[in-house]
Amino acid sequence: MPSILLFGVTGLVGCKFLLASHVVLALKEEYPNLPVTVFLRNNALDVYLYETAGVQRIVHGTFDERDKIIALAKEHDVVINVGSSWDVPLSEAIVEGLNQQPETKKKTLMHMSGAGNFVDKRWTDGAFHPEAKIWDDNNPEDMKLINPSMLNGGPDTVILNAGKRGKIGTYIVFPSGIYGEAAGPVPALGVVQLIFREKAKELGFVPYIGEGSAIFNCLHVNAIAPFMLKVLDLALQDDTPQGSVYERCFLIGGEEIPWKNASEAFAKVLHTEGLVPSPQARSVTLEEAGEGELPMLMASNVMFASRRAEKLGYKHNEVGLVEFLSQSR
Ligand SMILES: NC(=O)c1ccc[n+]([C@@H]2O[C@H](COP(=O)([O-])OP(=O)(O)OC[C@H]3O[C@@H](n4cnc5c(N)ncnc54)[C@H](OP(=O)(O)O)[C@@H]3O)[C@@H](O)[C@H]2O)c1
Repeated sequence: MPSILLFGVTGLVGCKFLLASHVVLALKEEYPNLPVTVFLRNNALDVYLYETAGVQRIVHGTFDERDKIIALAKEHDVVINVGSSWDVPLSEAIVEGLNQQPETKKKTLMHMSGAGNFVDKRWTDGAFHPEAKIWDDNNPEDMKLINPSMLNGGPDTVILNAGKRGKIGTYIVFPSGIYGEAAGPVPALGVVQLIFREKAKELGFVPYIGEGSAIFNCLHVNAIAPFMLKVLDLALQDDTPQGSVYERCFLIGGEEIPWKNASEAFAKVLHTEGLVPSPQARSVTLEEAGEGELPMLMASNVMFASRRAEKLGYKHNEVGLVEFLSQSR
């Protein structure tokens, strides 16, 4: 029975993944009692995690506790990191712990990165450019372009290098912008919904860049857990990982909408919540939008094809972002 160590259980993705994993895996004869350890800094959730989510072991700590993370990774067959796509030392510690296991033992690392890697920065005017690069997860040459200068490229590079050395089966999932509600007791917004709020608070309005026609690919959180379970099935099914590390990268997304439409939908919600005085989004230049990931993402296009993920069964049949936000008002 392979043991699982999960980072990020209280996040938007992690809480859905944990709940879904228990529901779905309980249905599977081959994994009736997959033992799950969770590593989290929140001390108030132990009863929920043991009794409702059914985890076997809880370890409290933060991502900077390197020795603790190494020791835990050394003890588990499968490590799943849906906690941070930015934290290089965290990924290094996970890899180091897995590598301390016996050479011949099977060990797996499933990592959640992000499609923010694939921003085409040749244009930063907020407009749609049909010549923007379309990344293809089924093309290893595209995946070989992943590097530390990309938004999530630091940990990705650590993991891809570890997988290339052949001791760890690595699987990286790159979701686009995630919306939706958290499951469980922690009302996590997730990265994109959080940075929209923070930017609105900073500026006093919800921005978009230029004409706002640049493409924002986004997916509902409910589409993620079923696919992560398919990746887990894939990882568990063979004694040795199949294909190169680049053939174990999966880009997943949903609707492609202009950033202006996303900003307008967020502006209405955040106005209803009393966070901004106007329900209208406002066009600004990249410089006027200030610092941070959101202006960088809004200024350019992210376009990709999920051919490899779709072959594995990925689909997005969820409500779109604008409709989701209008229902949440
Ligand atoms: N949401 C998106 O739009 C999006 C898009 C693309 C990629 N991603 C990536 O997908 C992954 C999951 O995203 P998410 O939206 O679910 O993230 P999230 O809601 O921000 O959750 C992050 C999780 O990591 C934990 N965490 C963060 N820093 C920690 C630290 N220093 N020590 C211990 N725990 C820590 C959080 O714990 P606390 O509850 O204690 O804070 C939480 O459980 C992330 O790697 C993210 O970058 C997200």
